[in-house]
Amino acid sequence: MNDKLAVIGFGTMGQAITGGLVEAAGYPPERIVTSDKAKGPKARARAQALGIGWEAHPLEAVKQSQAVLLCVKPKDLGALLDGLRASGALDHKPLVVSIAAGVDLAFLQARVPEGTPVIRAMPNTPCSIRMGTTVLAPGLHAGDEHLAVARTYFEPLGAVLDLEEHHFDAVTGLSASGPAFIFVILEALAEGGVQCGLPRAVALELAARMTLGAASMVLQTGRHPAALKDEVTTPAGCTIAGLLALEDGRIRSVLARGVERAAQVAGGLGS
Ligand SMILES: NC(=O)c1ccc[n+]([C@@H]2O[C@H](COP(=O)([O-])OP(=O)(O)OC[C@H]3O[C@@H](n4cnc5c(N)ncnc54)[C@H](OP(=O)(O)O)[C@@H]3O)[C@@H](O)[C@H]2O)c1
Repeated sequence: MNDKLAVIGFGTMGQAITGGLVEAAGYPPERIVTSDKAKGPKARARAQALGIGWEAHPLEAVKQSQAVLLCVKPKDLGALLDGLRASGALDHKPLVVSIAAGVDLAFLQARVPEGTPVIRAMPNTPCSIRMGTTVLAPGLHAGDEHLAVARTYFEPLGAVLDLEEHHFDAVTGLSASGPAFIFVILEALAEGGVQCGLPRAVALELAARMTLGAASMVLQTGRHPAALKDEVTTPAGCTIAGLLALEDGRIRSVLARGVERAAQVAGGLGS
């Protein structure tokens, strides 16, 4: 079998993943073919700019590929798989990788020919700049060799973690929805800088660079954020004053409940 990857659904995530692979990681574009039912010329022009193949119908892309990356919305996944199976496009049992939130392995396995290897993946949009995180869980017929193939798609885009499938809604609420939460936090931090007189562009750059640095300290030192926070907090200083104002606004429970709520909704997306 060839080493082609079919990316079905070329929206936000389809483009983030293929863009990251081709533009940031140097993945050969001729090894990717995509298909999207979008009628407008925009997605097609993006595929053309990346140099990847384009097929008008998903079955043509899937038939010629050893692996299929499903990047459509959860509500569209059942009909897509049923159509692919009925047309015989999955008869060669390609590796099927789904990134759909809330759609479990049992649902996917029931819609592909018996014995087809299926993997569930949960990436996030920072994959488009190779700063992403992807969590993988293998289905019944997916072995180490299939996980190794899936890793070749996601490792060039950032970190890859293996987790049991029952964690996926939590992963979705934290890691996949999380970039949006951080964008709101960055916007709010920058507003604080603007309120104190900083030019908006400077405030936003400081907020983003500070966030990147703080997150990198947690990852690189392995130390608990509370210990790192205590080190920045001089007695009677400005940081403890700011921290207490944040605690008055219940910042911890607001953020934690945001993740919990996103995970709850993710769990219902596949039904
Ligand atoms: N966005 C994120 O941050 C994120 C993170 C992790 C995982 N995910 C998962 O990634 C998946 C895609 O999300 P997205 O944000 O990229 O969605 P999106 O921007 O709407 O892209 C999905 C694309 O697939 C197309 N499509 C739908 N049915 C199709 C079919 N049968 N054949 C070919 N193309 C089809 C859609 O076209 P139409 O618009 O015309 O229907 C759309 O262009 C979802 O399942 C989501 O749960 C998203």
